[in-house]
Amino acid sequence: MKSDDYSLIKRFQQSRCMIKIFITISITILFYFIVLFRPLFDYYSYKELKLQNQIKSLNRTIGFDHIYVINLDSRTDKRKRLDDIASYLGLDFEYFSAISKDDVRILNRYGSADMNPSAKACYLSHYYTYKLMVEANYNNALILEDDADFELNITDIMTDIHRDLPASWEMLYVGHCFEGVGEQVGKSSSVHRLYKSVSPMCSHAYAISYSAVRKLIELLDPVIPRGSVDYSLKVVIDEGKISSYSVHPQPIVQWKAADNPSDITNSIPLSFSLLNSTSRFLGYKQ
Ligand SMILES: *[C@@H]1O[C@H](CO)[C@@H](O)[C@H](O)[C@H]1NC(C)=O
Ligand SMILES: *[C@@H]1O[C@H](CO)[C@@H](O)[C@H](O)[C@H]1NC(C)=O
Ligand SMILES: *[C@@H]1O[C@H](CO)[C@@H](O)[C@H](O)[C@H]1NC(C)=O
Repeated sequence: MKSDDYSLIKRFQQSRCMIKIFITISITILFYFIVLFRPLFDYYSYKELKLQNQIKSLNRTIGFDHIYVINLDSRTDKRKRLDDIASYLGLDFEYFSAISKDDVRILNRYGSADMNPSAKACYLSHYYTYKLMVEANYNNALILEDDADFELNITDIMTDIHRDLPASWEMLYVGHCFEGVGEQVGKSSSVHRLYKSVSPMCSHAYAISYSAVRKLIELLDPVIPRGSVDYSLKVVIDEGKISSYSVHPQPIVQWKAADNPSDITNSIPLSFSLLNSTSRFLGYKQ
């Protein structure tokens, strides 16, 4: 064998060896890359999935973390109608067993203000819902009374409203009564728009943020009630202790009818009506 041939073979073998080493190193690097970064990929696809689920579930609570409905156990008729509404609109409600005006033991533990037992029971039911919300650690929640009726397109309406709602909001009156229209917030030209609250009354549909609920637990301590729950909330807002917004015209109203005596007060029937009532659409008579 000539020495030239020999060096050629040797070089050929060397380069084959180099290729083998190169391939081995590449495979090793790829292997570790996959092993090391796999959790990262998983994490991102998990976050993506979670976000998608959050968006989906936010539609079931019209953009809030949670929806509580205050309902007396005895009023199964009201609960049945709300169940029908929830199932038609695709909403998730958690029912809170309201304090009854006949539960003298609980009522007597609290404030002596000359409120009638029904108003006291209503006050305590709202107050206990705040406590529940803090315990559950929700960022915010919508609180409804069990005579609430909704615009059929409430999800679309609230999608618009949330676009205009400042991140620092503390209370949002989705329903209210006797309220004047304040300064508009945002530039929406939809039918239902967001405004600053002006002494809102009624407590059938309002949302509270975590920062507001912590203030309310102190400010509305039932040992020293200032009056009915909606009046007390209005005072706190008027005093500027909580920043509040309202939707006009209200897309959630109280469903009132002559044969539907309110459990709370004998207040005058409210004339506020919806453009397209879900309750009526589902065949319930107004
Ligand atoms: C939520 O509801 C809005 C308004 O109806 C709709 O446009 C949107 O597609 C819904 N999103 C999801 C994730 O279902
Ligand atoms: C909701 O429905 C009413 C009619 O009932 C309509 O005027 C309004 O534009 C709708 N709002 C949205 C945001 O789709
Ligand atoms: C209410 O909405 C339903 C479903 O979109 C529609 O069929 C009905 O005509 C509407 N009624 C009124 C009074 O706008």
